[in-house]
Amino acid sequence: MCGIVGCIAREASRRSEEVVMAGLARLEYRGYDSAGIATVSNAGLDYRKKAGKLANLQEKLEGEPLADATAAIGHTRWATHGSPSDTNSHPHVVDGGALALIHNGIIENASLLMRRIQKDHDIDPVSETDTEVVAHLLALTYHDVCDSGVTPGVDALAEAMRRVMPELQGTFTLLAIHRDCPDAIVAARRSSPLVIGLGDGQNYLGSDALAFSEWTDQCLEIGQDQMVVVTSDSVRVYDTHGNRQTPHEFTVDFSHERTSKGGWATYMEKEIHEQPRAVAETLENRTDEQGYLTLDELRISADVLRQLDKVIIIACGTAAYAGQVARYAIEHWCRIPCEVELAHEFRYRDPVLDQQTLVVAVSQSGETMDTIMAVRHAREQGARVLAIVNTPGSTISRESDAVLLTHAGPEIAVASTKAFTAQVTACYLLGLYLAQVRGNKYIDEIQDYLEKLSQIPDKMQTVLNTSSLVNEVARELGPKTESVIFLGRHVGYPIALEGALKLKEIAYIHAEGFAAGELKHGPIALVDEGQVVVTIVPTPRRPELHRKVISNIQEVRARGAYTIVVAEEGDDAVNEFAEVVFRVPQTPTLYMPLLSAIPLQIFACEVATARGCDVDQPRNLAKSVTVE
Ligand code: M6R
Repeated sequence: MCGIVGCIAREASRRSEEVVMAGLARLEYRGYDSAGIATVSNAGLDYRKKAGKLANLQEKLEGEPLADATAAIGHTRWATHGSPSDTNSHPHVVDGGALALIHNGIIENASLLMRRIQKDHDIDPVSETDTEVVAHLLALTYHDVCDSGVTPGVDALAEAMRRVMPELQGTFTLLAIHRDCPDAIVAARRSSPLVIGLGDGQNYLGSDALAFSEWTDQCLEIGQDQMVVVTSDSVRVYDTHGNRQTPHEFTVDFSHERTSKGGWATYMEKEIHEQPRAVAETLENRTDEQGYLTLDELRISADVLRQLDKVIIIACGTAAYAGQVARYAIEHWCRIPCEVELAHEFRYRDPVLDQQTLVVAVSQSGETMDTIMAVRHAREQGARVLAIVNTPGSTISRESDAVLLTHAGPEIAVASTKAFTAQVTACYLLGLYLAQVRGNKYIDEIQDYLEKLSQIPDKMQTVLNTSSLVNEVARELGPKTESVIFLGRHVGYPIALEGALKLKEIAYIHAEGFAAGELKHGPIALVDEGQVVVTIVPTPRRPELHRKVISNIQEVRARGAYTIVVAEEGDDAVNEFAEVVFRVPQTPTLYMPLLSAIPLQIFACEVATARGCDVDQPRNLAKSVTVE
C-alpha cells in the first residue's frame, strides 16, 4: 500500500515535479486516500500535500505552484496510522523545513521512538502517523553526523539514514530529500518495495517500475535492508554497514498500450478484455520440440519434484481462489495432496513442512506482505517455495526458490481479473509439469491437456464477444440489488467465491459465495422472495455434478430466488430453472473456471458502474496490500 515515486535531474526545472506527478497517477492504484509532493533545489525545499485523490493535489499545485527543482519525491497514501487528512499526508517535512520524508510500510516501534524524541528533544508530533517520527529521527541523526565532522550534504544524509535504519522495527521504503543536498535523493528499504529507474541525466525511484515506465525500462532492484543514494548521474547502493553493493539490473516491458486505458472507460474493463492475451502469453513457449512441457524459469530440479509428498498453495484474496481452482487439477493429475491456505493464516497454524513440501506462493503483485511473510516462514521450515507472480523482480519472486511468471501484463484496476485467469493457467502448467516429471501422466495425455488449454484464449474471446446479456442484466439489477448469493460445486465453488468477492469489492453489495452442497446446512435460510442467486453449473458431461447443482438451483427457486445461471452452450437442462442464463463454450471440467469467471467479472463491473461506484479505485482498498 502507498505508492512512492522520486525523480532527480541535473538542472532545476519543472521536469522532476512532472515526472513525479505522472508517476503518482500511475501508482494511485496502491492507495488513494491522500497525496503529496516535496521538491528541492538550490533555492530550498518546498512541498504540497492534500487529503483525497490525486486530483485534489493537482488542484492545489495549480493554485500554489512549486518552484523549479532538481529533485522531487511524491507519495500516494493508503492510511494505516491516522485518518486520511492533510496533516497525515506525506511528505512529512521537519527541522524547520530542511528535510522531507515519504514512507511506505509500518513502523512498529513508532510510539516508543516518538516518546524518546519527545523526552530528549522536546519535539511534539503534529500528525498521527508512524512516519513523522522517522523524519524527526533522520533530521536529528543528520545533525549528530554533521556535528561529528561530516560536511553537511549528501554523505551526511546517507550516513544518517544508515544509522536510523536499525532503529526501526517493521517495514519501510523511505525516500528523503534535504535542502543541504538538492542533487540527491536518499532512500532505504526493508520488506517494502523500491525499484530504481536509470535514465539519461536523470534517475527515478518507484514502488514499482510502473511509476516511471514512460521514461525508462532499465531498472535496478534494491535488496532487503539496503539503502541507496541517487543523483542525476549515479546510483550507489549500500548495506546497513555502509558496504557498497552491486544491485541486480533488469529490463521491464511496459509498452504504453499495456499501461493506458486504451479507449476503455475503466482499467477493469480493459483488463477483463485482455484475458485471452494474458492466458495465451502465459502459455507461450512452454514446450520443447518433442512436445514435452518445459518450464525454463522453474529452478527446482526434476529429482526434487519427484520426491515431493505435498503441495501447499499460499495466497490471499483472488490469488487464493486461483489456488483453490488449481488444487482440483493438481490432485487429479499428480495424485499428490494439495492444500490451499490463506497466507495470513498459514504461519500461525504452524503447518507441517519439510523438504518434501512444495509451497506455491501465488501473487499478482509479488508484494503482498501476508504472502511474503508466509514465504519466509515456509523457507525457514525447509520447504521449497515456488512463486507464481505477475511482477518480475518483485519481493516474492526474489525470495522464492523458483519462479513461474504469469504474463498478464500490468494489472492496474484494484479488482483482479486477468491476473486471476493467468494465475489459474500457470497453476495448470505447474500441475501438468509435475504430472509429467513424476510420471503420473503419459506424454500424449499431457499433450492432450495442453492442446485443450491452448484453445482457452479463443473460447474466452467468445465469452467476451457474447457478453451483452450480462451487461443488460447487471444494469437492470445493479441499482436495486443489495444482496447476491453465488453457488458452485467442485471447481465452480472457488469461482462462486471469486464472483462474490468481485461484487463486494467494487459494487459494495453484500455478496457471499457458497459451496452449493453447503446450502442446505444453513445458508438457504437467507433465501427469500427476490434474492438474487448466481449459480455456476458444471458441464452436463459430468452428470453426477451437474444434476446435484440443478437440484440446488431448484431448491433456491422454490424459495423465491431470482436465479442467474452460468452454464455451458447446449446445456438446455438449466433453462427451465433460470431467469437468466449466461453461456460459456464447452470445455473440459477443470478448465471451466477460466471461462465462467468472465461473466461474473463483467457482471460486477457493470453493477458497480450502474451504482455510480469508482470501479478502478474502490473505497478502502489498494492494489498491493503491503502491510500485514
Ligand atoms: O497481488 P496479490 O495477487 O498478492 O494480491 C492478493 C489480493 O490482495 C488480491 O487478489 C485482492 O483480493 C484483489 N483486490 C481481488 O480482486
